[in-house]
Amino acid sequence: MKGNEIRKRFLEFFKDRGHTIQPSRSLIPEDPTVLLTIAGMIPFKPIFTGEIKSDLKRVVTSQRCLRTNDIENVGKTARHHTFFEMLGNFSFGDYGKKETIRWAWEFLIKELKIPKERLWVSVYEEDEEAFDIWHKEEKVRRDRIVRLGSEHNFWAIGPTGPCGSCSEVIYDRGKKYSCGRPTCGVGCDCDRFLEVWNLVFMEYNRDQEGRLRPLPRKNIDTGMGLERLAMILQEKENTFDTDFLKPIIDYTASLSGVGYGPDRIKDLALRIIADHMRAIVFLIYDGVLPSNVGRGYVLRRIIRRALSQGRNLGLAKPYLHKLVSIVIDIMKEPYPELSKDKEHMERIVLGEEKRFLETLEQGMKVFDDLLIHLLREKRKEISGEKAFELYDTYGIPIDLTQEVAAEHNLTLDKRGFDMAMEEQKKRGRMAWQEIGQSRVKTIYNRLAKELKATRFKGYDRTTLKAEILAIIKTDKRVKKAKAKDEIDIILDITPFYPEAGGQTGDSGTITKRGTRIEVLDTQRPLPEIIVHRAKIIKGSIRKGDKVEAGINIGKRLATTRNHTATHLLQGALKRVLGRHVRQTGSFVSSDRLRFDLTHFAPLTDEQLSRVEEMVNEKIRKNVKVEVSMMDLKEAKKRGAIFLVGEKYGKRVRTVKIGDFSLELCGGTQVEATGEIGLFKLVSESGIAAGVRRIEALTGKGACRFMKEI
Ligand code: SER
Repeated sequence: MKGNEIRKRFLEFFKDRGHTIQPSRSLIPEDPTVLLTIAGMIPFKPIFTGEIKSDLKRVVTSQRCLRTNDIENVGKTARHHTFFEMLGNFSFGDYGKKETIRWAWEFLIKELKIPKERLWVSVYEEDEEAFDIWHKEEKVRRDRIVRLGSEHNFWAIGPTGPCGSCSEVIYDRGKKYSCGRPTCGVGCDCDRFLEVWNLVFMEYNRDQEGRLRPLPRKNIDTGMGLERLAMILQEKENTFDTDFLKPIIDYTASLSGVGYGPDRIKDLALRIIADHMRAIVFLIYDGVLPSNVGRGYVLRRIIRRALSQGRNLGLAKPYLHKLVSIVIDIMKEPYPELSKDKEHMERIVLGEEKRFLETLEQGMKVFDDLLIHLLREKRKEISGEKAFELYDTYGIPIDLTQEVAAEHNLTLDKRGFDMAMEEQKKRGRMAWQEIGQSRVKTIYNRLAKELKATRFKGYDRTTLKAEILAIIKTDKRVKKAKAKDEIDIILDITPFYPEAGGQTGDSGTITKRGTRIEVLDTQRPLPEIIVHRAKIIKGSIRKGDKVEAGINIGKRLATTRNHTATHLLQGALKRVLGRHVRQTGSFVSSDRLRFDLTHFAPLTDEQLSRVEEMVNEKIRKNVKVEVSMMDLKEAKKRGAIFLVGEKYGKRVRTVKIGDFSLELCGGTQVEATGEIGLFKLVSESGIAAGVRRIEALTGKGACRFMKEI
């Protein structure tokens, strides 16, 4: 049975039993506390916990998932993967253990016709109810039901969150796959007893203190590995031989001219590459770009891991990007949209490959010099420190260092390497904390604690009466300041918009009788305080003075026009280029706007002119711009655009422009699009692999530009 057919059969089976089929969600969970979608239940976490109310009762999905905790095992065992699909049926306070067990058994035995004799079942040691259902109702022999402790049969999403006891269905692949240990049985880690389906009776929520609290309703969360099921039904030795992964292996083998089967090291490389390639394609599909933090780092590591394996196959040049289309071919049936992103994905992968290979090459030169030095000095060992430097600075994997060392009859201080690695992790953690603090000057940390939070009123006011709460001169708090002084001022209330979300800060004046201060820029070093960067033109000020704060209205309006135009631009780009377009950065000032987006190729003249025309059409229609506050969940449900990886609070400000655009945004906006006047694209260029930059003008700036050309 083809893999795609299995997926379909599962979804249909549960549809016939009252479940709604829902499409797979992204690998990037909506829940900001989770880095990646590691299980089919992740999208439903807030329903389980009761955080959001939902009318859903029964759902069935095939969810794309990504886990990195078993990455070291990938390729070595018959069953571990980073990327995989999880088939799952869910009940939100509807059916219970009985139906869950009955349907699981029926699906495996009747629908898929898996021989009963092959199957075992495990239950949580204290769960008599589950034991009885399996034995009495489903007639599973007692000696085929194994009771296991909480390390096996209690499933939790993480240290906190929804959890519950579970029952698993296990497929016995036969003695020949056994590790041979006398204890080998259900629950053993080896390749004989394959966990196929995990039925979680999700009844608790673990809180911060580790206490189990009953959830508002009893739920069901089941998860079955699609690739594992395919391996059983297609009678394969391992998941890599199924139609989900084998074509990737075959293609890579043909690229490198090696065969699959005869050589352990080469086979392992082929399997790792095949697994990682699926992860790479779907991470990029879901909007992740390689970087050094968060999900971007996960992607970068996976690409580099896969690429290093190419060495074992004699693939010295970039090759991973050629595998993108193979993955798409395999997965396009459930994911028809994948093909649209093909070139974008290829470029991102190729860019990353080139970058890594260059670094690696430099590293190999350093390594060669080191070898010459060591051999000349008649040394016997490569120190852990040196090996770590090769790894850390140049990305040379430790196994490569080990191999080359052995070729030259040198040993390697692996312990020293591990220690250096551990040290670096610690340093890394500390560095993060330090960066977190040093980016904000100490003075502001102190002021933020001491003063009341600045009240920002700039969405609807351009001038305000305010009080000076603090004056800062060369990083020190002062009581007063005089003409020509360059200072930072903190007020109790302000109409000045502080630089945020790509929009530059306001400028303007702060005045009182006899005193005029020019505000050159406005910043928000910490969420609590807004700082006016200013210069006293005439007169003087003291802490506690009552002043009049007024922004430069012309500049603000020009900036605002550019900001709303950026939203229109994003809307148009998505329509003209496709759904893969994501904002990777933006800069909005009074004289221009800049927008960086993910796209694989330069925009053609025709695309540019369609984008420009679409934005101008929206301007002519004078569409109302509606700003409202809502729950983050609600905003996401309505499909609002948000920045991947950005942290948002529970309540968010959304900006809606008709049906054309809905974005989370804290910036200032025109009331209706007509105010923008005119929109003119002025440049388009590439700034990194797969990232394009667009610059444009609006309003007066656009008119001036048109006159000049
Ligand atoms: N959440 C459980 C798992 O991941 C069952 O879906 O195994």
